[in-house]
Amino acid sequence: MDPGERLDHLTSVERTLLLTLCGRAEDAKSAAPLLGDTVAEEISGKICESDRATATGADLSANVAIRTAQLDQHVRKFLAEYPDAIIIELGCGLETRMFRLDLPPRSNYYCIDSPAVIELRRRLVPAHEQETGIAASLEDSQWLDAVPTHRPTIIVADGVLTFLAPAEAIELLNRLTAHFEHGELVCQANITYLTRDLGRVPELKRVGIPSPYRGFGIDDPTELERINPKLRFVEEFILARSPQYFGGFSVKFRTILRLLRLRTRWARLSTWVLRYRF
Ligand SMILES: C[S@@+](CC[C@H](N)C(=O)[O-])C[C@H]1O[C@@H](n2cnc3c(N)ncnc32)[C@H](O)[C@@H]1O
Repeated sequence: MDPGERLDHLTSVERTLLLTLCGRAEDAKSAAPLLGDTVAEEISGKICESDRATATGADLSANVAIRTAQLDQHVRKFLAEYPDAIIIELGCGLETRMFRLDLPPRSNYYCIDSPAVIELRRRLVPAHEQETGIAASLEDSQWLDAVPTHRPTIIVADGVLTFLAPAEAIELLNRLTAHFEHGELVCQANITYLTRDLGRVPELKRVGIPSPYRGFGIDDPTELERINPKLRFVEEFILARSPQYFGGFSVKFRTILRLLRLRTRWARLSTWVLRYRF
């Protein structure tokens, strides 16, 4: 019998944490890891084989590692400029960024996810003295009361805004930029074509996202500026426009990336990471 942790009690949206965790764990096991996240590898080893099997694949893992590395780089730079910063990890899942980065001693890391995920996190992720877990729904406005407002703040949203209803995502961004005086938002994003029905995306379907499932998407980085005038677009990373990363993918996926790169609109269908200031 497989002694690993079973994740049957999680909702399909909560179970998406497997995709990113296992992606980083597989990267750690690969011949040339991008992240070298051995903590993620250790955590994924505690999860039962059948759950892990729904979230594996070399191209998926390479995509996850690349977007994670982009986000890590943004947080690292922010912390170099503001060593007393607050890091907010929205929909943290079993993310282990705090172990990958050398956190300055005066920085604080807040991890927010549903009560079931925070409970799982407490059991599976090693404790980090600068981390505070907040068990709350992102739709709930009260969790922010526990977080200081005056310190420089970097908000990280990896694979989470996508799963919110559009009105909820907009409301959340407004609440965040009203609460924190200044900082950055760094996020992974998806275009609206994908988010009209997330259940069509094979990896999401495998972890149980039903079809139709409508999430939050944008087609252009300036859309978030229009939605929230406090946000100022700084830069974007588009995998299909970054051929230096293509070597880590299968021939089939590389061909897809080469086709997508022909038009910016299509290119943003690939891994897409955005950075804003507020
Ligand atoms: C794809 S996973 C990403 C997890 C993590 N950011 C990572 O990179 O490993 C999405 C996460 O967002 C969380 N999430 C989605 N909607 C949420 C909501 N409304 N409130 C709190 N957490 C939410 C899920 O529970 C899940 O852990």
